Amino acid sequence: MTLRKANNLACPLDGLTLSVDEKQCVCPEGHTFDIAKQGYLHLLPVQNKRSRNPGDSAEMVAARSAFLNSGGFAPIADKLNELTRASLTTSRTETCVLDAGCGEGYYLAHLLASLQESPFQKNLALIGMDISKPAILAASKRSKHITWLIASNKQPPLLPGTVDVILCVFGYPLFDRFKPLLAPCGRIILVDAGPEHLIELRNIVYPTVQKSGPPTLAAAESAGLFLTQESTLTYTHRMSSNAQIMNLLAMTPHYHRASREGLDAASKLKNIEVTIDVTFRTLEPVQRQENVDRDAITPGLTKST
Ligand SMILES: C[S@@+](CC[C@H](N)C(=O)[O-])C[C@H]1O[C@@H](n2cnc3c(N)ncnc32)[C@H](O)[C@@H]1O
Ligand SMILES: [Zn+2]
Repeated sequence: MTLRKANNLACPLDGLTLSVDEKQCVCPEGHTFDIAKQGYLHLLPVQNKRSRNPGDSAEMVAARSAFLNSGGFAPIADKLNELTRASLTTSRTETCVLDAGCGEGYYLAHLLASLQESPFQKNLALIGMDISKPAILAASKRSKHITWLIASNKQPPLLPGTVDVILCVFGYPLFDRFKPLLAPCGRIILVDAGPEHLIELRNIVYPTVQKSGPPTLAAAESAGLFLTQESTLTYTHRMSSNAQIMNLLAMTPHYHRASREGLDAASKLKNIEVTIDVTFRTLEPVQRQENVDRDAITPGLTKST
């Protein structure tokens, strides 16, 4: 694997270019940041932290890793790889994909695996960024070829105009912060839950279920980003262990919003088939809305994992 190292890191204190060596990185003003022995960089200044341990907890990260490693969301990762690879070009000498809110790194690791022998890899850098230290610790174990950052979407420590694709998977996009990072022809790919996502589990943990679609793009449009492509992926996934059912629940906001009775009912489940219903949306900083391609990839529940 010959991915290039990220050379577009910016000092979180003044935005100047960070030069990276084996042990640390440093900006021209002399601000230094150590590279942890696990290989990640901590670029979240303490004054930018709103709590002592921001982001997902170690328990949520462990639950997410256990569920994702079971392959339950592999079709989502495959579709994301397809969209990301179609957005990269071999004509640029350096390309970069940033996963903003990468969690424990599943989707970037899946992308990396799909790039073996591809013409993209030698001029491509992959960067995973998350505000949660337990998430980045887990991500660092997935691959040494990916640059893992503890940092916030509120202040991404990257140089403007250097990122070709920003992925935001079930995350918290901050469009006004993402847009300046985009290289010419750069784009953002959002992955969000659709109205039927995990509906069978939601019917169990809530007394009444609200079926809402993916979040609105009003903030994206205010930031000058427009929808250029939209598609959905729908399939069913069978789970036959309570541990895996609870892992899936624990990696979603439903775990914290559910009623006690709902969680008790879920904790007694031995198996369940759940609907996975996910929307992929591509945003670009040009107005090309008339070209929106609404190709439903898998209409209806046609695929079972
Ligand atoms: C629902 S999880 C999704 C993780 C990953 N994208 C996945 O789908 O497996 C949302 C992630 O966003 C992270 N997060 C929350 N606020 C953030 C912020 N301001 N900047 C970066 N990451 C953040 C959390 O720590 C968590 O890992
Ligand atoms: Zn600096």
